[in-house]
Amino acid sequence: MSEKEGSSAPYIVFGKPYIGEEEIEEVVASIRAGWLGTGPKVQKFTEGFRDYIGAEHAAAVHSCTAGLFLSQVALGIGDGDAVITTPMTFVATAHSIRHTGAEPLFADVHPTNGLLDPEDVARVLAEDCDIDDADGRPLHRATGRKVRALMPVHMWGQAADIDAFQALCDKYNLYMIEDCAHAIETTYKDRKVGTTADLSCFSFYATKNLCTGEGGMVTTANEELADKIKTLSLHGLSRGAWSRFSSSGYQHYLALETGYKFNMMDLQAGLGIHQLARLEKMYEERTRQWHAYREDLADVPGIEIPEAEAPDGRHARHLFVIRITEDCPVVRDDFLNALHAKGVGSGVHYLSVSEHPAYKDCFHTPVPNSEKLGRSILSIPLAGAMEEDGRKRVVAAVREVATGQ
Ligand SMILES: Cc1ncc(COP(=O)(O)O)c(C=O)c1O
Repeated sequence: MSEKEGSSAPYIVFGKPYIGEEEIEEVVASIRAGWLGTGPKVQKFTEGFRDYIGAEHAAAVHSCTAGLFLSQVALGIGDGDAVITTPMTFVATAHSIRHTGAEPLFADVHPTNGLLDPEDVARVLAEDCDIDDADGRPLHRATGRKVRALMPVHMWGQAADIDAFQALCDKYNLYMIEDCAHAIETTYKDRKVGTTADLSCFSFYATKNLCTGEGGMVTTANEELADKIKTLSLHGLSRGAWSRFSSSGYQHYLALETGYKFNMMDLQAGLGIHQLARLEKMYEERTRQWHAYREDLADVPGIEIPEAEAPDGRHARHLFVIRITEDCPVVRDDFLNALHAKGVGSGVHYLSVSEHPAYKDCFHTPVPNSEKLGRSILSIPLAGAMEEDGRKRVVAAVREVATGQ
């Protein structure tokens, strides 16, 4: 996200957040008040986000990665276990599984929309696992690990096929944890993503649709799990720092278990409160950009552009991902560099996790769709903060690079 020096038009930064004066004033007010850590703003933001999603419970955390990790810990997933997930995701999804002591098991994705393919997940469960008579859960033959959960990712803002995954969870006695890092505004059929799994984890990282710099939220219908995650996120303490000091007098806290330091701060929540209020307006602006990109890029040779709508509900318009086809004169990595030289930032979301060195030893059956996608996609700027002339410059740059200019 660096500014490019020396060019006349300003560099178009990929994933530039829209930060209004309201956010700035809110954060300054926290600093002036001296309450920087977890406090009333975290509580307000958590309740507002919970209501926006329509979830029954929400727990604010420091990041989506922390949320994914704590969700698994709260469900008792750990050593000796496995979680089936997609390799077409940010490494954090898989890392969160490994951090618990479990291992990810990758199934392949749809060849163009990048969503985890329920049929390949069903194949892994039916062909690569035996059912353990002791608990009716699948035991993965090659690794000897017990499969405990499915972790679909709502990639780029499109909903994964929740009904198909829920049917597999019911059949195999598995939990579902959904990675909603890209999917704050997403719906699956008529349901809001975030109400469609046992636990749902959101990201408020700097480039996300709602940004708090770093930040995350877990939503769930299960009060016990929500409480467990809240406790685990702050050292396993019996009370949060805020309620300890704001109630009448000092109250001792007790560490109920060996928790973690994954709490959200009021500084972050101060941003989140105002980002949440502007969320739908920003969504509408990105939707406008989305359709305008589709119209402007439809005739550009050598690239494929995303569909107008997601397969199963509302697309959150998080990432506008184009595919560089084999007949394009420029290969994907050269395409990225050429856009950069023309003053346009872009990104790759993502290289297949199966191709990262850290996952070379991770057991999985072939995932050719994910690996092919990971080598041929790139994301162009889509952001509420982008002006229309910037969007037009992106279009011109993509057209020039694709046609070898
Ligand atoms: C699909 C996906 N999952 C998880 C994460 C991790 O989010 P965070 O940075 O909030 O931990 C990201 C972040 O980019 C992501 O894109």
